[in-house]
Amino acid sequence: MSEPILPPIGMLAELTHRCPLQCPYCSNPLELLKANRELDTQTWLDLFSQAADLGVLQVHLSGGEPTLRRDLEQLIAGLSARGVYTNLITAGVGIAEGRIEAFAEAGLDHLQLSFQGARPATTDRIGNHQGSHEKKLETARRARAAGLPLTINAPVHRHNIQEVPEYIDLALSLGAERIEIANVQYAGWALTNRDRLMPDLAAVNRQADIVAAARERLAGIMDIDFVTPDYFAIYPKPCMGGWARDAFMVAPDGIVLPCHAAQTIPSLRFERFGERRLAEIWTDSPAFNAFRGTDWMQEPCRSCERREVDWGGCRCQAMAIAGDAAATDPACVKSPIHKYMAILTDAAQEEAASEGNESFIFRRIGATIRPSTRA
Ligand code: SF4
Ligand code: FES
Repeated sequence: MSEPILPPIGMLAELTHRCPLQCPYCSNPLELLKANRELDTQTWLDLFSQAADLGVLQVHLSGGEPTLRRDLEQLIAGLSARGVYTNLITAGVGIAEGRIEAFAEAGLDHLQLSFQGARPATTDRIGNHQGSHEKKLETARRARAAGLPLTINAPVHRHNIQEVPEYIDLALSLGAERIEIANVQYAGWALTNRDRLMPDLAAVNRQADIVAAARERLAGIMDIDFVTPDYFAIYPKPCMGGWARDAFMVAPDGIVLPCHAAQTIPSLRFERFGERRLAEIWTDSPAFNAFRGTDWMQEPCRSCERREVDWGGCRCQAMAIAGDAAATDPACVKSPIHKYMAILTDAAQEEAASEGNESFIFRRIGATIRPSTRA
């Protein structure tokens, strides 16, 4: 290895794949795990304790919908007792009376709430759940009343990109300290629905201008994070901050992964917590070491001055588009197949002209997936 292996800072705990919503861009894998495959309370608590020993400072509790775990209060309390910062990422639908207050009491530090649209009709349609927008508003109010800092997640795609100004107003009205406007990244269910979700370049540019103006106007009032879409980029993003560099995730069944889409790389075998200690998996697992650092890189990444800036981009996107997880991320202008990204966006625009969102493949446990789009 060209550099020593440092301890991880962050962990994403996917507590469950169960969810009341069915967003067509969900980052969960196509094969969703049923409740009987989930880790039990004590195993999660052991895992969190080992994560804290390893150096993890913040844990994002996610899913699926993490509040469907009846033991969530216990899990938060376990992390809090170890001094770990906890962030709950929730769809905010169907959370029983008194529970948000109980999460705060157990030591929850922050709540991140997703809205599928800024308008009620959009939220309800994209999540395929009637009345969800109203329930989310109520969750936001309860979180603020319980004293929890709030971030609004705004996943953006062709069907709601024009709602960005309303999203910003919504977040302000709910007392959020931050809004994360994130263009959908095409992995998991989003890759299956890519042609139905991808916006056009003009809409993306308009949105970037709106965000820039709002950032200036709201400086010191609300932070606006903005994740641009890879398909229109010149350089890729450092996915996960670099493979196995400072964060990892754990699937509901305890499989420890460098990122949420890692299981789409068929040559890698991932290990389960319990069969080995977390520290051993982080340091020794061949899958974690496969793309760590820069030694694995091929040209043009190997000799590129940005190789320790973006770490070669996203391995899963390289797998999905180039068919080789060790290839340069095709989002990079230096990739020999970068032009293919433009072909994919053109294909998406053609589809936009002929199809409505009725054709979404909604995320469902046990859903039948038709073969993926052109990739
Ligand atoms: Fe990043 Fe590789 Fe592109 Fe250089 S060639 S900018 S390291 S993806
Ligand atoms: Fe796996 Fe980017 S999603 S490396």
